[in-house]
Amino acid sequence: MNKSKILVTGGTGYIGSHTIVELQALGFEVIVIDSLKNSFAGVLNQVEKISGIKPTFYEFDLCDKSALDNFFYREPNIDAIIHFAALKAVGESVDNPLLYYKNNILSLINLLDAMIKFNLKNIVFSSSCTVYGQPDVLPVSEQSPMKKAESPYGQTKQMAEQILSDVVKSAGINVIALRYFNPIGAHDSSLIGEFPIGAPNNLVPMITQTAMGIREKLMVFGDDYNTKDGSCVRDYIHVVDIAKAHVIAIERLLKKNNKSPFEVFNLGTGNGFTVLETIKTFEKVSNTKLNYEITSRRNGDVEKVFADTNLANKELGWKAERDLENMLLTAWNWQIKLKDLKLN
Ligand code: NAD
Ligand code: WQD
Repeated sequence: MNKSKILVTGGTGYIGSHTIVELQALGFEVIVIDSLKNSFAGVLNQVEKISGIKPTFYEFDLCDKSALDNFFYREPNIDAIIHFAALKAVGESVDNPLLYYKNNILSLINLLDAMIKFNLKNIVFSSSCTVYGQPDVLPVSEQSPMKKAESPYGQTKQMAEQILSDVVKSAGINVIALRYFNPIGAHDSSLIGEFPIGAPNNLVPMITQTAMGIREKLMVFGDDYNTKDGSCVRDYIHVVDIAKAHVIAIERLLKKNNKSPFEVFNLGTGNGFTVLETIKTFEKVSNTKLNYEITSRRNGDVEKVFADTNLANKELGWKAERDLENMLLTAWNWQIKLKDLKLN
């Protein structure tokens, strides 16, 4: 039985909760920190229903440095950290950039300070395909240049990677930054999934809420892009595939198999689908008809992006396994279950 202790920040969130389940399945002990700014503590009861184990939970904001120090005094034997905690709403970051710089950057700096103080060596960081901005060449590989960020949120991910790559040089810390493309879908049990608080920003929760009748209509942002049907192309990837990559990254760090102290991997399927293809696939797997309308382009949208996944395939031995149908079916099953769920 693997008894390594993993701190998961942002563990009550969407990707964090799925990752906890995969860590527990391999015998890791999980400790969670979350401020519950964008999630509910009840998610951990749902995790317990899947795995039989409820992780230890500490509720506080990582921007609170003394709370973080107290935490590490109480939990001195942590082997590695997965740092999911961040705010992630692109539009909100444009309206309130300081909120994003403070939350996403200060929390990371506090965590790195604590890692140095408490002699912790291993961290997996949630990065994003947003760091590539509008890419010139497709598919985007880890070597592709970081173009100008499209939002303050995107800027925080670029800055965070820069901070991490600087800190490893002086602090003897090992970092794996995972750049997720578009995570969607939910756990097969429909006990955990994406839980947008307020109106969702992303396509798939908008689709499932519209199909459910929570929203009247889905607006498709543009059909005049240079793509096969004119709508934007994205690399959607199942959240469980993403979660599994984190476990592999953690094992790589713990076994010291990393080839350099700062490694970066794309997490995508390598396949691009348009918005209209995604809608059609959803209609097929859910056997519903979606009410949607084409409207004008959304500011800051990238026309086309999908991942070169060769590095993660080769180095991590990881490959996304789920297809778009499975992603959308599990997202739909989760949306159906959500109406009966009490998480707070
Ligand atoms: P989420 O909002 O569901 O989870 C993030 C969690 O972090 C939330 O539970 C929130 O309460 C918590 N949190 C935020 N700031 C905190 C702070 N200062 N202290 C403590 N807790 C804090 O988001 P998610 O989709 O699970 O995303 C996880 C990570 O992956 C984020 O870093 C996000 O930027 C990144 N990411 C997400 C996507 C996506 O589309 N979901 C894509 C690429 C990268
Ligand atoms: C997907 C496609 C929209 C909603 C965002 C972040 C990115 C990353 C993933 C965190 C686009 C279209 C959407 C709607 C639509 N997150 N759409 N109608 O923009 O690729 O990426 O989430 O790091 O940083 O920017 O994802 O799901 O918002 O949009 O037509 O109501 O769906 O225009 O083409 P996006 P998304």
